Amino acid sequence: MTMSKVAIIGGTGLTSLQNLQISGREIMHTPYGEPSSTLVRGKLGDNEVLFLPRHGSGHTITPHRINYRANLWALKEAGAEMIIAVNAIGGIQSEFQPGCLVIPDQIIDYTWGRSNTFFEEGDNPVIHVDFTWPYCRSLRQALLTAAEQAGVGVIDKATYGATQGPRLETAAEIDKLEADGCNIVGMTGMPEAVLARELEACYASIGVVANLAAGRHDGEITMEEIEQHLAEGMKNVRTLLEHVIPLL
Ligand code: HPA
Repeated sequence: MTMSKVAIIGGTGLTSLQNLQISGREIMHTPYGEPSSTLVRGKLGDNEVLFLPRHGSGHTITPHRINYRANLWALKEAGAEMIIAVNAIGGIQSEFQPGCLVIPDQIIDYTWGRSNTFFEEGDNPVIHVDFTWPYCRSLRQALLTAAEQAGVGVIDKATYGATQGPRLETAAEIDKLEADGCNIVGMTGMPEAVLARELEACYASIGVVANLAAGRHDGEITMEEIEQHLAEGMKNVRTLLEHVIPLL
């Protein structure tokens, strides 16, 4: 098996990378079960990368059902040292407009009932990983540099509130998240980030604002609206990915 040190985890709106020249697909089995899909190996420009669609290749796995442990374990096993996650998000304050790209620097975790550690009871002594800064500093910096080089606008700092889903939040829940200090909200940021940290992989996220969060504009949040804004935002994500990979 050849090794690729950079992996991309695609979220809603990014189940494939059109500009990836695919060289192979790998079916991975892990002690934690099966990842969301086969790992796609290929070249983005001159650089080898791995790609994994988080919700499966047909986008069928809901956020609370994703086997985050198998996904992270499989990527690590395939050689990934750096992982760029792409996450659809809702914007809580008005500067986080639909279509915007955001590189978050903090997380508040509201998810529950997900397998969120590789350190289960048993053979090994208990380990508490440091998670003060949940995203890898150097990878975040590379994303910000690449965004500047590519002329892609990004918001360079935000606190990501990770909710359980699959439903969207109530307006009162979003008020509570805002009072807690969250700027953006999504369903897939955790436990992915902490599992990457436990495996000592360098992990950062590109958030794409799909909608204003619940109660932040008139009317309901529709899937059509989400899909339309994601399609716009993903063009910039693809450009950003092309520019960041050579920096890594
Ligand atoms: N809330 C949670 N997750 C999301 C949202 C949202 O408003 N939009 C896209 N993912």
